[in-house]
Amino acid sequence: MEIIRSIEDMQVRCKAFNQQHKQIGFVATMGFFHDGHISLMKQAKSENDIVAASIFVNPLQFGPNEDYEQYPRDEAHDISIAEQTGVDILFIPGVEDMYPKKMSIRMHMEERVNVLCGRSRPGHFDGVITVLTKLFHIIQPNRTYFGMKDAQQIAVVDALINDFNFPIELIGVPTAREQGGLAKSSRNVNLRDQEREEAVWLYKGLNSARQLVVDGEKNPDIIVKEVMDKITHNTTGKIDYVELLSYPELEPVTVIDQQVVLATAVFFKHARLIDNLLFNDIGELINRLK
Ligand code: PAJ
Repeated sequence: MEIIRSIEDMQVRCKAFNQQHKQIGFVATMGFFHDGHISLMKQAKSENDIVAASIFVNPLQFGPNEDYEQYPRDEAHDISIAEQTGVDILFIPGVEDMYPKKMSIRMHMEERVNVLCGRSRPGHFDGVITVLTKLFHIIQPNRTYFGMKDAQQIAVVDALINDFNFPIELIGVPTAREQGGLAKSSRNVNLRDQEREEAVWLYKGLNSARQLVVDGEKNPDIIVKEVMDKITHNTTGKIDYVELLSYPELEPVTVIDQQVVLATAVFFKHARLIDNLLFNDIGELINRLK
């Protein structure tokens, strides 16, 4: 595996692969790898000639009171995992390379962001699309892999790729979970033991609400209330949101008659966790997006 830190070197390397008609699959990350990241890399490996992954904790997507400084980092561990997983090129740029000066152009999401995490984290997705635009230009991948755990992020990347005509195929990969159902996240390390036990209720609550849809319920309010009740009664966490929206448009629905995302975010003392389920009008799970 090659480790590349300079933008110019990365561009030269990726361009050479493009000229040799080698297909590049790209996985963007902020590091501190867990099974979620690994499953993206594995899928990229199975569908491309070359897997490029990036590690960059992107300051632009963290709000002023968020955990940019505290975001967990372990480069040596990440390098060894990437190597074992079959990553061919690991791109680790520095902040001063990616953002040498204040940018003259600001990218701003208009749609798909006034809900869910976009509402509670203003500017977050503007930071995400800015860094991804840079990474897509540097790497010029054929395919890019994103985890469905961050369903809104996929909807946002889908808009970026379509609105700006990136010739890149977007692939959504199923959420990797712990045994009890807790979605794997770099932030789980910040949970206390009891919180970790409680945190499975995000998934259990979402699933119990989905079961209502399977049983014939079509009213989104009842579905949302079911998730809220389960989380409130079984955890010490504070609910940030529970929402049911059309997918990938992320618009409110009055009746469940199409593909929807049911998503939640919950604040625990030292970590804000998110989870979601994507399902159709009869509650059948959609685990993979293509
Ligand atoms: P990060 O949180 O490191 O996540 C990198 C990728 O891993 C994202 O596509 C995310 O959805 C995926 N991922 C995280 N947890 C997962 C899980 N349990 N199962 C499956 N996939 C999972 O998301 C970001 O970084 C950043 O916003 C980034 C896209 C890199 C832009 O800075």
